[in-house]
Amino acid sequence: MLNIRVEKTTAPKVKPDYKKLGFGNYFTDHMFLMDYSVEAGWHDPRIVPYGPIALDPSAMVFHYAQELFEGMKAYRRADGGVQLFRPWKNIERMNNTCDRLCVPEIPAEDVLQAIKAVVQTDEDWVPYDEGTSLYIRPFIIATDAHLGVHPSHTYLFAIILSPVGSYYEAGINPVKIYVEREYVRCVKGGTGRVKAGGNYAASLIGQKRAEEMGYAQVLWLDGIYRKYIDEVGAMNVFFVIDGTVVTPELTDGNILPGVTRASCVELLQKWGIPVEERKLSIDEVIAANENGTLDEAFGTGTAAVISPIGELFDEGKHMIINNNEIGPIAQRLYDAITGMQWGKKPDDMGWIEKID
Ligand code: COI
Repeated sequence: MLNIRVEKTTAPKVKPDYKKLGFGNYFTDHMFLMDYSVEAGWHDPRIVPYGPIALDPSAMVFHYAQELFEGMKAYRRADGGVQLFRPWKNIERMNNTCDRLCVPEIPAEDVLQAIKAVVQTDEDWVPYDEGTSLYIRPFIIATDAHLGVHPSHTYLFAIILSPVGSYYEAGINPVKIYVEREYVRCVKGGTGRVKAGGNYAASLIGQKRAEEMGYAQVLWLDGIYRKYIDEVGAMNVFFVIDGTVVTPELTDGNILPGVTRASCVELLQKWGIPVEERKLSIDEVIAANENGTLDEAFGTGTAAVISPIGELFDEGKHMIINNNEIGPIAQRLYDAITGMQWGKKPDDMGWIEKID
């Protein structure tokens, strides 16, 4: 149990227009901070006014990217209350990421307490409008002022909050995706299975190239054989082939274990829709598209929830999927997950953690 000190802002900000939030553009009045040192462990948990953090220019995070983050949301229910969706899964993943990046773990109960406390402090920032939520971004950075390459001895854990609308401006409309054959996101044994900021830095070039060519994102292939489907942009990916839903398996350690991904797999199992976690090659996807059995494709993530893929472009070929429309399985998953998240549907999976 943390003993959190709270210092309230004396200058609350003017709230943004909740109809035009976009993703990650605005930040609330407060943030949570906690320090780590070898002598004191994780200490001095505090909620303070949102603002710049002073760091030594030699702080290790700037040089060797010892940084990790999480992403989750707080949702406003119709009765005015606020709730979280499967926060324990994010916290478990955060500690797995800590382990991979040699960062000291934080007890899961303490992380949840910190998240709830900062959301409660800024509860009036949780938007009410349809499709909006308060995005929660916990992150940890290495703060040692030192240029030797080894794990830092000091860290800062922070949680910032951002009221958000849809991740993509187009909402849940299908997006066009470019199959990336040159660059890769990660390799087996690397950091693809954890939420390291460095993974996202390495992915930017693919996204930039896709955007230059008029595509929303890239479809990543594996780094060894260069043929197995990995992820789409910063999301997990699902294909529906001849009635069976297929998503890349987690076992090789290169796929991020997404909370929305897990929720989709569990819901499909509950509904009795065949779902397989296995290797899926781009050749199998192309063949399914050619023989008319590629029913649907979609990305999943906390930010966009479900993002249907309307077109894949690969080596000169344009593959249109489901007539460039959202498919029935993507729509059913979207309705079920968002229904629970905003409290419009009963939580029959035990996934909701109420804050208020
Ligand atoms: C998500 O889909 O929630 C992500 O991980 C994207 C995030 C990095 C903005």
